[in-house]
Amino acid sequence: MRNNLIAANWKMNGDTASNAALLAGLRLANPNRSCEVVICPPAAYLGQVQALLPEMGFVLGAQDVSAFESGAYTGEVSAAMLRDFGVRYVIVGHSERRKHHAESDELVAQKTKRALAVGITPIVCVGETWAEREAGLAEQTVKRQLAAVIHANGHCISEIVVAYEPVWAIGTGQTATPEVAQQVHALLRAQLRAATERSDRMRILYGGSMNPGNAAQLLAQEDIDGGLVGGASLKGADFLSLVSAAG
Ligand code: PGA
Repeated sequence: MRNNLIAANWKMNGDTASNAALLAGLRLANPNRSCEVVICPPAAYLGQVQALLPEMGFVLGAQDVSAFESGAYTGEVSAAMLRDFGVRYVIVGHSERRKHHAESDELVAQKTKRALAVGITPIVCVGETWAEREAGLAEQTVKRQLAAVIHANGHCISEIVVAYEPVWAIGTGQTATPEVAQQVHALLRAQLRAATERSDRMRILYGGSMNPGNAAQLLAQEDIDGGLVGGASLKGADFLSLVSAAG
């Protein structure tokens, strides 16, 4: 019913030479795969990656989008600009942006709206910190983060992708167990079900130290429909193996 989606989040890494080398290695990806593959390079390299992607059948994504439409917002990149470069997906509300750029739930909801308005699918990230998990607040945190996006986007909510990324698992090598991840994914699915009758078609990705060793078990869970992959997406062989685990 839902085909898997694997999104590579390159974060603030790479240069023109290393991007070209990484993408050249990904040409070996099975052309008959059923999963969708999205590459999210830094904004500065969208043009370069756009030119190299089609031959692999991958699609272009971005790591962030402005909450504003256009105008005097120095340094910002609008949703329309992303679309101009052929961007089909955009990550919003990544925990690194919530932390280092003080992005609030409301701002994330606004960015989601901007992306949807131009036909780009937002990949909305939610996730608790270790302190929140220890305090028994994991469920409450992710529900609050998703509720803000549901509230601001009404019936369009069925057009988003959700990514559950426990903050304590990002870049740490400490992955959530498949059971822990599934528990949160089921909770998020139930929250979406209350908001839209299309929830069963929506994809909920897992992110946080996903790698070739743990991907198959995570992806086997009922409500895990793909991955948002940071570190392992920068290593061609690892990323290819994630893509094949996703079908
Ligand atoms: P990671 O990053 O795979 O390196 O943990 C995931 C992410 O931040 O999206």
